[in-house]
Amino acid sequence: MRVFETYSEDETIAVGEEIGRGLPSHALILLIGNLGAGKTTLAKGIVKGLGAAAPEEVSSPTFTLIHEYGDRVYHVDLYRIDEEREVRSLGLDELLDRDAVILVEWGERFPNLWPPNRIEIRLEAIDDTRRITVTPA
Ligand SMILES: Nc1ncnc2c1ncn2[C@@H]1O[C@H](COP(=O)(O)OP(=O)(O)OP(=O)(O)O)[C@@H](O)[C@H]1O
Ligand SMILES: [Mg+2]
Repeated sequence: MRVFETYSEDETIAVGEEIGRGLPSHALILLIGNLGAGKTTLAKGIVKGLGAAAPEEVSSPTFTLIHEYGDRVYHVDLYRIDEEREVRSLGLDELLDRDAVILVEWGERFPNLWPPNRIEIRLEAIDDTRRITVTPA
């Protein structure tokens, strides 16, 4: 388990970048935290660290549900989805089989869907401070 503490959006992006640089080419990452905790901000850094896109190109996939950066990084936001059945219809199983990195916001709402070998990143917010806990890596 690794723990980081950040005090600004830029610092959270920098932590994401560090996490992204150390990821294997095949990884599922659940980004867990309340509204505004910094899940999308951290994703910007992770995508940058993976060399897939610049932070400005990363935004919340709230309406389109899945964003693709390059050909092997996917970013999913399940906030607006209520039923497991709907998530299954997105074709994530196929993505999970690929040599790809998949970042999922609000994935913890559907605990049955994910393989056990995943990375969970929890973000807790107090004012502008974010405590970021990465397990297991
Ligand atoms: N240390 C910090 N790290 C990251 N964001 C911070 C920090 N301090 C303040 N913020 C603010 O918190 C917000 C984080 O927004 P972000 O979209 O990343 O959250 P989110 O968890 O993806 O939210 P949602 O649940 O709506 O998808 C931004 O408005 C950002 O400016
Ligand atoms: Mg978000």
